[in-house]
Amino acid sequence: MTQDEMKKAVAQAALDYVVAGSIVGVGTGSTANMFIDALASMKDDILGTVASSNVSAERLASHGIKVLNFNDVSENMVVYVDGADEFDAGKCLVKGGGGALTREKIVAAGFDKFVCIVDESKKVDVLGAFPLPIEVIPMSRNLITRAMKEMGGNPVWREGFVTDNGNDILDVHGLSITDPKALEATLNHMPGVVTNGLFAMCGADIVLMATPEGVEIL
Ligand code: 5RP
Repeated sequence: MTQDEMKKAVAQAALDYVVAGSIVGVGTGSTANMFIDALASMKDDILGTVASSNVSAERLASHGIKVLNFNDVSENMVVYVDGADEFDAGKCLVKGGGGALTREKIVAAGFDKFVCIVDESKKVDVLGAFPLPIEVIPMSRNLITRAMKEMGGNPVWREGFVTDNGNDILDVHGLSITDPKALEATLNHMPGVVTNGLFAMCGADIVLMATPEGVEIL
């Protein structure tokens, strides 16, 4: 089975968690794209979706799936489905490889359950092998770069990339994140940091992990 076939299988499996008559939260990335494509088969059964990025909103709309404004909805928000760059045994995640981390964290917080869809290559013992994305207000980029170096990381500006919120991304290499909740909280308190890609204080509720043998529910 190729990685793409595994992504497709896990995206399809996530449909089991979509509740008829509800609003579905939709993430960003190649696995989330496959979920969007699969969700098209249920578009008449759901009230609509909330997207975590402009690109996902466009893909949803291209399938004729209704996209709602997050500020206009407050009920029937059952499941948020999204991929991840890494996950650990505690279902803590690193996200933001696609740069949508802030809206992903916001939208995920509005739903009862976060169903994370990944293939087995995303499983790690300790988070941090994938560079940790941090969305920063542009004028704070050097300030946060210096702070991350002091913390032992090697931050790299994702030059040329601007988030949907008009901000910059720093990808921090070289971290070994043994206490993801503590690091998430520390980064959240730095002036200029909008969001960091750790989803540890509110991680996934369910991880669906595709393997060549099938989809495992964790
Ligand atoms: C985007 C994300 C994605 O969920 C993450 O990068 C995984 O993407 P993919 O499914 O393409 O591997 O956090 O900001």
